[in-house]
Amino acid sequence: MAGFCIDQRRRFEGKVWAVVQPHSVEAVQKTVRYCYEQQIPLTPQGGNTSMCGGATPSDSVAGLGIIVSLSKLNRVREVNLADNCITVEAGRVLQQVQQDAAAVGRMFPLSLASEGSCQIGGNIACNAGGVNVVRYGPMRDLVMGLEVVLPNGDLLSHLSPLHKNTTGFDVKHALIGSEGTLGIITAATLKLFAPARTHVTAWVGVDSIDHAVALLELTQQHFAERLSSFELISDFALELSSQHTQLSQPLSAPWHVLLELTDSTDNTLLPEQLGECLLGAGFENAVLAESEQQREQLWSLRENISDAQRHLGASIKHDIAMPIRSVASFVHACAPVLQAAYPNAKIVVFGHLGDGSLHYNVFMPDVLSNDVYQYEAGMNALVYEQVFAVGGTVAAEHGIGQLKTKWMDKMRSGTELALMLAIKKQLDPNCLFNQGKVLPD
Ligand code: MLT
Ligand code: ZN
Repeated sequence: MAGFCIDQRRRFEGKVWAVVQPHSVEAVQKTVRYCYEQQIPLTPQGGNTSMCGGATPSDSVAGLGIIVSLSKLNRVREVNLADNCITVEAGRVLQQVQQDAAAVGRMFPLSLASEGSCQIGGNIACNAGGVNVVRYGPMRDLVMGLEVVLPNGDLLSHLSPLHKNTTGFDVKHALIGSEGTLGIITAATLKLFAPARTHVTAWVGVDSIDHAVALLELTQQHFAERLSSFELISDFALELSSQHTQLSQPLSAPWHVLLELTDSTDNTLLPEQLGECLLGAGFENAVLAESEQQREQLWSLRENISDAQRHLGASIKHDIAMPIRSVASFVHACAPVLQAAYPNAKIVVFGHLGDGSLHYNVFMPDVLSNDVYQYEAGMNALVYEQVFAVGGTVAAEHGIGQLKTKWMDKMRSGTELALMLAIKKQLDPNCLFNQGKVLPD
């Protein structure tokens, strides 16, 4: 059971007395009912790719529990082209769902680094983001209906393809982002979109983050919804990724933007229009991918940043978001404060500037592996103080899990927290579902 009990970053490890892998919704219900009657704590688990220990049992769980792994509940239930949606079971891997959509001439836009192993149920449970949020929104915007086994074993089934429905509360939104604390998602109806027939991918060197934000405004104004990705990368992050991937750096600049325009028609004018737009506004330090291979290489430089860093030591990750207009002032204020307190700290800044989220990862080259976590509380306090100062959040797209529960009361008002706890108590009175996650003690 070892692989189920420890998270992929090897930070969180708990003990359980069983891992259950149900093949059917009825089996999930039977398992959950048994746990409810016997008061057995239960951890729902998808691909176990959480960055915050959301899917591994917490070692503070009162009494040994079980893990319910959704991996075997992974079928496509229905493809509905008239309503442009697909219904899949929770254990289906995200990349498979992308392929299912492509097989019927559609596109499912959620895309993130772990898409080859993360599962759709986990993506919904933590309201995952990724590189296409600027155009398609996070997971919350892609879910039409949910099927969920509640903590008492009852089935909440609303896999509706309805595009409109104004009948009271939309309960699914309480489940999306609840990270398995309110129920086990067993299936979902997801929105499909037209596939992109034209991709224009540009790497643009900019002098500052303000310059990058100006580029974002410019491309949004010129290309509106065709702007599907807008990623910010510091020069240091690029240097690490370039060494790791053995791919050369496309250009030199203090900051870099990887942006992509997509069009669902064959739009041969789009590359030229982007080129003219960039040159016209003085963004001359830029390259456009001229082949699919070049496009893949540019994306590979972006997608390998985390991996490149992992090889240099464990990092203290900050998955933060803030108003886009405040990103530059946050970065300017935070680096000196952090560097003064931790002179050896290396800061790797990159992220999804198009939706205001940043990965502000810190590592210490001379501190071995997990020893770096002794500095985590101190660093978090410094970084998050700056995040709160600009009205940001400490969990943009990776969730709270067991890593960030103590920050919840800084993020949410007392009224909101009381409401969350009331819902939790109503659905899971014995607090058996995903103990130690999301909600403060
Ligand atoms: C990414 O966008 O590459 C990941 O969400 C970032 C990370 O691993 O910190
Ligand atoms: Zn990310």
